[in-house]
Amino acid sequence: MEKQRLGVNIDHVATVRNARGGAYPDPQRAAKIAEEAGADGITAHLREDRRHITDADIEALMDTLSVPLNFEMAATDEMQAIALRHRPHAVCIVPEKREERTTEGGLEVAREENRLAHFIAPLREAGCRVSIFIAADRSQIEAAARIGAEVVELHTGAYCDAHSEGRFDARDRELAALTEMAGFAHSLGLEVHAGHGLAYDTVKPIAALPEVMELNIGHFLIGEAIFRGLGPAITEMRRLMVEARSS
Ligand code: PXP
Repeated sequence: MEKQRLGVNIDHVATVRNARGGAYPDPQRAAKIAEEAGADGITAHLREDRRHITDADIEALMDTLSVPLNFEMAATDEMQAIALRHRPHAVCIVPEKREERTTEGGLEVAREENRLAHFIAPLREAGCRVSIFIAADRSQIEAAARIGAEVVELHTGAYCDAHSEGRFDARDRELAALTEMAGFAHSLGLEVHAGHGLAYDTVKPIAALPEVMELNIGHFLIGEAIFRGLGPAITEMRRLMVEARSS
């Protein structure tokens, strides 16, 4: 099986920093440690309300990273202008609601097909790989392919929530949908990524899906870093991913 990439999302290093309004802990330092621990990319979400990552963080990441930046953003004119200025390796379009605590669902691509097709065209022309964050849903995947996205990232949040709440039937149904839709997206020529809510006890069935080329993981790794350090937390996640793909 092809090697699967691990993108480390550093948003919540910024969450901790912003709790005190200063400069510590520095997301750049976390990104450096993640690179040294073998992360294939760094993911950062510049939210409209700048609750964690800031414009200055994105600027600094673009200047200092030696691995690709996956820039997560909502489909707004403001974010498009920022992405076109920085031209990150990848842009992941996510839905965003001010009142949500985290990105709760996937993007409704099918409902906004025309607008999104026009929205991503300049990003693609600027050389960014455009990824669309969606639920494991056939009509959303078809719409993502039609608007010209190169990548879909499948939302694993419902699968992870069902697992951690002990709803194992629901978890297994979510996993079956992710499995089938990863294959379907791949059959349409889309590269498949996955993420949201993944932890040591949920990563392996997702990492084992042959079509899934990249996982983006943040909150759990930053939390686990409190207990074992960021480098070792990432190393263990990588070990589980490799184990899942070799068994
Ligand atoms: N992928 C996407 C598109 C996301 O929006 C997020 C959360 O910002 C993640 C992955 C990572 O999720 P988590 O922080 O729960 O690992």
